[in-house]
Amino acid sequence: MKPDRRATSQSGMGIIQDTGLNGLPRIVLTHSSGASVEIYRHGAHVTAWKNEGGENLLFLSRESRFERSHPIRGGIPVVFPQFSDEGALPKHGFARTNEWALVKNGQLSDGTVFATLRLEENPDTIRIWPHRFALEYSVRLSDALAVRLSVTNTGDNPFRFQIALHTYFQVADIRLIAMLGLRGIELVDGLRQNVREKETRERIAFEGETDRVYVQAPNRLILSDAGHHRELYIEKSGMNDVVIWNPWIDKSVKMEDFGDDEYQRMVCVETGNIAVPIVLSPGARWEGATKFSVGSE
Ligand code: BG6
Repeated sequence: MKPDRRATSQSGMGIIQDTGLNGLPRIVLTHSSGASVEIYRHGAHVTAWKNEGGENLLFLSRESRFERSHPIRGGIPVVFPQFSDEGALPKHGFARTNEWALVKNGQLSDGTVFATLRLEENPDTIRIWPHRFALEYSVRLSDALAVRLSVTNTGDNPFRFQIALHTYFQVADIRLIAMLGLRGIELVDGLRQNVREKETRERIAFEGETDRVYVQAPNRLILSDAGHHRELYIEKSGMNDVVIWNPWIDKSVKMEDFGDDEYQRMVCVETGNIAVPIVLSPGARWEGATKFSVGSE
């Protein structure tokens, strides 16, 4: 049975806390330009980033579950403390399936609206990952969407983690997009036994399943979306690596929370620290950020 996707929605400027799909708590930030961001506290998951015209720049699967036991498919999943299945934890860790608290929200003098969410250890996380931590995630909306993530070791022993923002962009046609800015960068190809090689292309087009980690990628990348006549700019700091991912045809069919044809309208460009996990000593704090903005081609 498909989930009950009813949502109660309100409109207005600033910040609204309400109930989203299947009764999950939701935060909606609205900027004076008309742009908006929707965040589910389940996973601190940004599920929509709409421009002034109401177009969602992020992809959200029509088959996504909105259930506490499952990650949301699309938007910006927060991956922590494990990337993919590179360890014994659930795939991509547990940050995306835990409920975060809203700890701060407001409006800055320049009109930027923001919300800050926090996740700390709980009995379920301790059971599978015996560490005390505090994650803080700040989402800021202006003419761009800027997110900042921090991890603090609040326990008595060091821990190591991987972290990523698994951003799904909505594109007009996967066959018409290109990633720019990765030429010369070392990549680890997850579809070819993690072979390492250098990217030779200036424009990376998508012609099949793609699952690659670009190690020590530049801080500014461009996603060219010719079908929408726009470019998306991705600017990161404190985050070393970039992943590009598209499941293409066969994998899409196997994913039960993803439409068979939806691979044509999305691409993930993920920013994070994946190739070399971060080690945090007690009391230490790590911070990384990514800013997304749009321009016309
Ligand atoms: C990507 C991984 O980051 O996420 C892929 O590189 C993985 O290997 C994909 O399939 C989606 O993962 P999930 O758990 O959300 O289906």
